[in-house]
Formats: sequence, structure tokens, C-alpha cells
Amino acid sequence: MSLRFHEIAESRHRILNPFTDDKLDTLGEICRPGAGTRVLDLACGKGELLARWSARYGVQGTGVDISDVFLDAAAARAAELGVSDRVGFARADAAEYAEGAEKGAYDVVSCMGATWIGGGLAGTLDLMRPLLREGGLILVGEVFWNAVPTPEAAEALHADPEACPSLADTAEAMEAAGYDLLDMVLANADSWDRYVASQWWTVSDWLRDNPGDPDAPGLREFLRKGRRAHLEFGRRYLGWGVFVLRPSLP
Ligand SMILES: C[S@@+](CC[C@H](N)C(=O)[O-])C[C@H]1O[C@@H](n2cnc3c(N)ncnc32)[C@H](O)[C@@H]1O
Repeated sequence: MSLRFHEIAESRHRILNPFTDDKLDTLGEICRPGAGTRVLDLACGKGELLARWSARYGVQGTGVDISDVFLDAAAARAAELGVSDRVGFARADAAEYAEGAEKGAYDVVSCMGATWIGGGLAGTLDLMRPLLREGGLILVGEVFWNAVPTPEAAEALHADPEACPSLADTAEAMEAAGYDLLDMVLANADSWDRYVASQWWTVSDWLRDNPGDPDAPGLREFLRKGRRAHLEFGRRYLGWGVFVLRPSLP
């Protein structure tokens, strides 16, 4: 799936996952970051977590992403909230950035909705851990399954039918990776709709404004298939949440 399609479809979003503003705020209230808390947000999208937490709590930090379009929006959002002196953004592959980043330097390391950066949940948790300062928190946003999908549902949602963990399986995988699960904020049907359904109007407008663009046929198909998959299967089968973790004691 093309990054450009996401850049177009999510051009009016601030949060690029099934979270609404209030859910992101709830996450902040749970984590209670203090002024000066150092955050590294891997696959940060438009940087809403960093910019908002910096404005509200005074956190500082860095967001990393591969999309120039999203990073430009992140920098603009930081400027809008008056926090450009405390948060910055880097264009890089998140795994490579994590590899080269200062170890033990961050109070919070987050990756919300992009665990492919480490080849899956366990691999992503492994690459985040060395970056954490003693007593720090990991925030990981991850999909889980509300029911075992039919083969048709798994295919429509681009999932391996053999790897569709439930919420409880996901929690166990986090514990098995060496973390204590401290809390979580979950998406619900409404917040999924805000993420997915609110892309339809954006894409419809883009297709009207750019009928001759070489990407128009592909984007039309992306809209058609994505809408069908969401309505028929996604709303029933897919869960998503941000999980608050800390390394388990040895
Ligand atoms: C589902 S969005 C989540 C964005 C953000 N965390 C949020 O919650 O708003 C996934 C993000 O991962 C970024 N991305 C995809 N592959 C990446 C990679 N290898 N390294 C860094 N960012 C990546 C995309 O550009 C996109 O911004």
C-alpha cells in the first residue's frame, strides 16, 4: 500500500490511528509526564502526541518518520502550539534511528501504530527497550482481534490468518517480551470510524480535484476496497489500543 495514498487520505487528520483527541488526552492523564520528560516517538506521523504533550506538560523530544508530508505537518503543529523549541522531528527509518539513538536517554519511547518497524510487536519492543532511561515507559499502539477472522476477513484486512492475536494474547505477548502491562487506552467503534470513515470525504474531494493524476485510479480502488473492508470486517474484527508498559523486574 502506498505511503502517498495515506498522505492524501489522512491529509485532514491530526492523529493517524483510531484514536480521538479525548483518547490521546486520556493517555496523557495516565502517563502524567512531567516538565522536561524526554520522549522519543518512533513513526510519529504528524507529531500530535509530542506537540500536545509538550504544550500541556512541557515534555521535550523527537519524532521520527519516513514521510516528509507528515513531518512538515508535525513541524507546523509544533509551531502552532508554540513548542518548536522543545520538540523536533527527523526523517529516518525508525528502526535505523533507534539503532543509532542514545541508549538509556528517554523517559518515554513510543511507537503508536507502526510495529512493522521492528518486524512485529516483539521486535519493536526489543528495539525500543535500550533507549529507555531507568524507570521509563514504553507506549506501543497495536492492533488486536476481537474475534478469530474468517479467511475472507483476514484477506480483506491484509492479515495473516495464523497471526491474529486477541487482546489477551497481545497482553501476554507483551509480558513474554519482558514488560509489565501497566495500563491501556483502547479504540472503540466510534474512534475507528473517525479514523477510517473520515478519510472517505478527503479522498472523494482529492479525486474530484485531481481527475487526471496517475494515482487517481489506484486511490479510487484504495477507497473502494478500504471502505468495504472496514464496513464488512474491520468494525467487527479489529481492535486497537495504546499499551503502557515498563520493563519487568529481572
Ligand atoms: C498509522 S501511522 C501512525 C502515526 C502516529 N504514530 C500517530 O499515531 O498519529 C504510521 C506512521 O508510520 C510511518 N512509517 C511507516 N514506516 C516507517 C518506518 N519504517 N520508519 C518510520 N516511520 C514509518 C508512516 O509514515 C506513518 O506516519
